[in-house]
Amino acid sequence: MSENGSEGAKTLSIRDNRTGRNYEVDILDGDVIRAMDLRQIKVNEDDFGMMTYDPGYTNTASTRSKVTFIDGEKGILRYRGFPIDQLAERSSHLEVSYLLLKGELPTQSQLDDFVHEVTFHTYVHENITELFSGFRYDAHAMGMVMSGVAALSSFYPEAKQVDDPDARWQQITRLIAKMPTLAAYAYRHHRGLPYVYPENELGYTANFLNMLFRIGTREYKPNPVLERALDILFILHADHEQNCSATTMRVIGSAHADPYSALSGAMGALYGPLHGGANEAVLRMLTRIGSVDNIPAFMDGVRRREERLMGFGHRVYKAYDPRASIIKRTADEVFEVTGRNPLLDIALELEKIALNEDFFVERNLYPNVDFYSGLIYQAMGFPVEMFPVLFAIPRTVGWLAQWEELLNDPEQRIARPRQVFEGSDERDYVSMADRG
Ligand code: SDX
Repeated sequence: MSENGSEGAKTLSIRDNRTGRNYEVDILDGDVIRAMDLRQIKVNEDDFGMMTYDPGYTNTASTRSKVTFIDGEKGILRYRGFPIDQLAERSSHLEVSYLLLKGELPTQSQLDDFVHEVTFHTYVHENITELFSGFRYDAHAMGMVMSGVAALSSFYPEAKQVDDPDARWQQITRLIAKMPTLAAYAYRHHRGLPYVYPENELGYTANFLNMLFRIGTREYKPNPVLERALDILFILHADHEQNCSATTMRVIGSAHADPYSALSGAMGALYGPLHGGANEAVLRMLTRIGSVDNIPAFMDGVRRREERLMGFGHRVYKAYDPRASIIKRTADEVFEVTGRNPLLDIALELEKIALNEDFFVERNLYPNVDFYSGLIYQAMGFPVEMFPVLFAIPRTVGWLAQWEELLNDPEQRIARPRQVFEGSDERDYVSMADRG
C-alpha cells in the first residue's frame, strides 16, 4: 500500500456477476470514471450497454471547471481560489465579476476599463419600457425581468455569434450592465412610478439604488452602509458552481443559443422556491409563522413533512453555508440603519432549534444563503417579489462565467441525457369506436 493509500493502477475493476466477465475502467483526475466506459458492460452483444442512473444529478460531474470551488463538508466557498469571506470583506461586486470571468484579480487599469465598459452599457432600448408597460401592475418582477432579458436577444442579433470571443465579451458586459436597469424598471412599474435612468457618475450598486428609490429629487445619495451591504450581498451571490440555474445556463448554452436566451432560462430555474426563489419563500414563511409563539406548531409540521423549512438545507453544504454567516453579520449593520426587522426574532429561534434538534441536524438542515438575505432586503424596502431578482442580478456574472467556460471546453457537446424507458411496448392504433 503506497503512502497515499492507493495500491496500484488507477483503474476500477468491475465484475458483472450476470456474465462472470471482468472489466477495467480508468479512474481519471478528480476521482471520476467516464460514464461511456460503462457501455461495454453488456449481457448480450446487441445490448445498449450499461448507463448510470442519477435523478437530480446528485453524483454526476457534468463538466470540469476552474471557476468556483465548494467543500460542502467543511463549508468552504472560493471564487477562483479566493475565499468568499476575504472577497466579501475587501472586494467589490464588479472586481469579483472580473475575477470570475477572467480568472485573476484585475490590475487597477483593467478594473477601471471594465467598470467603464459596464457603466456605459447600463441603458436598455426604449422599446423595453413599452414591453414592460404591457405587464399588470402586480406582475411578479421575476416574470418581467426574465422577459426583458429574453427580449434583449432580439436587439443584439450579433449575440448569436457564440464562437466569437469578442461578440461574447460584448454580450457579457451588456448583461452585467443591464440587469440592474431591468430590475429597477420592473420595481418602478410595480410601484407606478416613472423610470429613473442610469447615472454614469454613480457606482454599480449606487446607480441601482438610485434607479430604484429616487423620487422627486435631483440628487439621490444612497446610505453608504446600505450601498456597501448590497454590494457584499452581490459578491456572496455571484456564483456557486454547478447549481440548478448554472446547469440550466450550460444546458441551453450547449445548444449554442445566444446568451440572453440562455440567461433567461437560467433565471427561470433560479425562480423556483427550492432554489433562488427560496429567499422570497423564507419571508412568506416567517410572515405566516407571525410570532415566536407559533414556532413549535410550525416545526411540528416540518417534522411531519407537511411544511418545508425554507432557507434551510443544501445539496452540497452539509455544514453551515459560509455565505449565511456573512449575511447574518451584514444584517446587523443594515438594521443599525433601517431599524431591526421584527421577523428576525422568529428567524433566530428557528435557527436555534434547527441547529440543536436531531431531526434537523440528522438532515444537515443548516441555514443557507437564502435564510437571512430576505430579512435584509425587506428592511431595505424591497417587496418580496424583488427578492429572486436581487439574487439574479449578481448571479448573472456566475452564469456567464460558466457559459464562457463551457464554450471554451473542447470536451463539451450538446447536453442530451439518456433515460430508462418504462413505458408501453409497441401496440396498434385503436379507432374511437373500439376504445373503452
Ligand atoms: C440555493 O445548489 C446551489 O448551490 C444552490 C444555491 C446557489 O447559490 O446557487 O446555494 C442557492 O438554491 C440554496 C437552497 C435554497 N432552497 C431552500 O432553502 C429550500 C428549502 N431547502 C430544500 O428544499 C432542500 O434542502 C434543497 C432543495 C436545498 C436540497 O434538497 P436535496 O439535496 O434534494 O435534499 P432532499 O430534498 O433530498 O432532502 C433530504 C432530506 C429529506 O428528508 P427525508 O424525506 O429523506 O426524511 O432532508 C429533508 C427532506 O425532506 N429536507 C428538509 C428540508 N430540506 C431537506 N426538510 C425540511 N425543510 C427543509 N428545508
